Amino acid sequence: MARRVNRKQKPDNDFFLLTVTIGINTSKTCKKLLNAFGMAEKIIIVKNVSKKFPKILALNNLSFEVEAQTCFGFLGPNGAGKSTMMNIIYGKCTRDKEPESRMSIFGYDPKHEELKIKYLAGVVPQDNNLDDELNVIQNLMIYSKFYDIEAKVAKKRISYLLDFLELSEKANSRITELSGGMKRRLVIARALLNNPRLLILDEPTTGLDPQVRHLIWDRLRLLKKEGTTILLTTHYMEEAFQICDTVMIMHNGQRILEGPPRELLSKNIEKYVLELLDADAMQDLFNGALQKHVRIDRSQHVLRLFSNDFEYLRTLAGSMAGENYYLRQTNLEDVFLKTTGRGLNETQ
Ligand SMILES: Nc1ncnc2c1ncn2[C@@H]1O[C@H](COP(=O)(O)OP(=O)(O)O)[C@@H](O)[C@H]1O
Ligand SMILES: [Mg+2]
Repeated sequence: MARRVNRKQKPDNDFFLLTVTIGINTSKTCKKLLNAFGMAEKIIIVKNVSKKFPKILALNNLSFEVEAQTCFGFLGPNGAGKSTMMNIIYGKCTRDKEPESRMSIFGYDPKHEELKIKYLAGVVPQDNNLDDELNVIQNLMIYSKFYDIEAKVAKKRISYLLDFLELSEKANSRITELSGGMKRRLVIARALLNNPRLLILDEPTTGLDPQVRHLIWDRLRLLKKEGTTILLTTHYMEEAFQICDTVMIMHNGQRILEGPPRELLSKNIEKYVLELLDADAMQDLFNGALQKHVRIDRSQHVLRLFSNDFEYLRTLAGSMAGENYYLRQTNLEDVFLKTTGRGLNETQ
């Protein structure tokens, strides 16, 4: 598979020259130098991308960049535009024609060079699209043919990937015999067949139990360590926190916040929260008695008091009868709810 970009194949637009030059041909030494000068390799550059479907503006002028060998996560409620963005990156969906919109994936524009991107990327779509007529190995073998992988090489690679995703025992099973977690792991194995430089995962662990989720997180961490760049969508805050280097919180097709998960926390929310699980009973108790540094967020039955002053929250909690409260550090879910609100939209 071509790792070098032939000048003739290079996008005709000079805008991407730097990305292509340093993105594809970089030696290890050169990479270190670039990092030292803060010029880390950008594998994905997206500028001013929008997508309008007949009834909805799914993406509204979105821009972001993804550095090589990092994990970039899109976090957002259903209908936020996450899948649409992923689909545009690998050419399954086209962005709106707008003069200011630009995209570079390994130096290629998915609008015109979808196949070149597909060769360098592996995709785990939101829905498992496995062939129920075939067994596990056959599903992988048929895909290896799309990539022109020689049968002998493919067999070896499949055996390695089944082992990597703990599916070896299921090699000859029919797809209908697999659990949800096994099917998801098989789709991940399939996406890794061509040893991709970029792995795109659309909700890789939705609906899976904690064991499978943790196994997938472990494998993704390993792949990243070995040099794969990962792009994923999720609505599990914990997943974003565990494996993403950068997270973009999306809502209604727009970027709400972007940054490393820890930084999103430190910049956007108080450090601690006291959750009172019987909001009605507690409301009177705290009315007027709160310090001005406490932010109150009330949902139907829970009252949340946010503050950076842990001792103060602990004293409040200690003054309460019973144990109908929970004092904890804030997390990405709190940031998410603070920035996108608690209301549901029609697609949720
Ligand atoms: N092919 C399509 N045709 C029309 N509307 C679409 C299509 N794909 C997505 N949408 C709409 O675009 C919005 C964003 O969808 P999507 O990108 O799937 O969101 P997410 O992945 O964040 O849940 C939703 O309102 C969805 O209904
Ligand atoms: Mg989606």
